[in-house]
Amino acid sequence: MKIGISGASGNLGRAVLAELANRAPQHSVVAISRTPDVVAGAVEARAGNYDHPETLAAAYAGLDRLLIIPSSDMQPGQRGTQNVAAIDAAVRAGVGHVVLMSAAGTRHEEEPAVGASYWKGEQRLIAVAPAWTILRMNYYAESLAQEVQMSAGTGVLTGLAENKVAFVSRDDVAAAAAGILVGDGHVGAIYTATGPRSVTGAERAAAAATATGKPMSFGIITDEQLRAGLVGAGMPEGVVNAVTSIQAAFAAGAMDIVTGDVERLGGRPPKSLDVVLQTILA
Ligand SMILES: NC(=O)c1ccc[n+]([C@@H]2O[C@H](COP(=O)([O-])OP(=O)(O)OC[C@H]3O[C@@H](n4cnc5c(N)ncnc54)[C@H](OP(=O)(O)O)[C@@H]3O)[C@@H](O)[C@H]2O)c1
Repeated sequence: MKIGISGASGNLGRAVLAELANRAPQHSVVAISRTPDVVAGAVEARAGNYDHPETLAAAYAGLDRLLIIPSSDMQPGQRGTQNVAAIDAAVRAGVGHVVLMSAAGTRHEEEPAVGASYWKGEQRLIAVAPAWTILRMNYYAESLAQEVQMSAGTGVLTGLAENKVAFVSRDDVAAAAAGILVGDGHVGAIYTATGPRSVTGAERAAAAATATGKPMSFGIITDEQLRAGLVGAGMPEGVVNAVTSIQAAFAAGAMDIVTGDVERLGGRPPKSLDVVLQTILA
């Protein structure tokens, strides 16, 4: 098979390329992004830009299967438009099976909520793709590790309410995606890649304290306090909006979802939050 990875040069894309190289070297893989040469080598590199859909016709030509990894563009409205453009281009190019990366807890939301782009992409995919699969990812454990590093000064991880999240390692999401791309029986399925269990605010702070050897607690703040802190730290509006809407999703319990999908699709149990934090932060 010819398998395309759109968004191949990013963190998740590179992890998917590594998984495919390990588990299915018999397939030919095409790495697609605006700067695909950074991951070229064993794989074919093709340029394709979600903001210039005309470039995607050649990028997606001849693919049997395609994984669409959305960009990290946080400008409200931008990523949803990109997702629709990529899906439409894949269908026009005749890709046999389109797999979309989405987010845990995706539901009807309007811009500027960060989840709106995933909702828009999922709905378009289901409407137009002859064969599709959706892989929703829970929040990356690696992103929490970054938050711990940024919170070292205050020693406090914050949330808008007590909440539980089944943090998942990015490599485990990649393993699940690779399992779909080389496997059969996944057409029409919506999977959710999650860690092994849902972790409370106090539990994640304790895990961070163990990993860093420094005290860490969990505190509840208001939406206004969260926004003011991010603005004060010099974050651009798109990032402020993304962080607050992710925290609102946490508070609503949207990411309190544990499934067996990583092991079922990826062939190995997901890493715990403790292990990921210790690996990155120790
Ligand atoms: N669940 C979570 O906790 C979590 C956390 C962080 C991120 N995410 C999301 O997960 C997805 C993947 O994350 P990641 O860490 O792999 O992101 P990333 O490292 O920023 O990678 C994004 C990829 O998209 C490509 N891209 C960006 N703009 C593009 C455009 N206009 N046209 C075509 N390709 C474009 C980039 O390549 P080029 O620059 O070469 O074009 C890159 O390959 C993103 O949607 C991100 O927002 C989820």
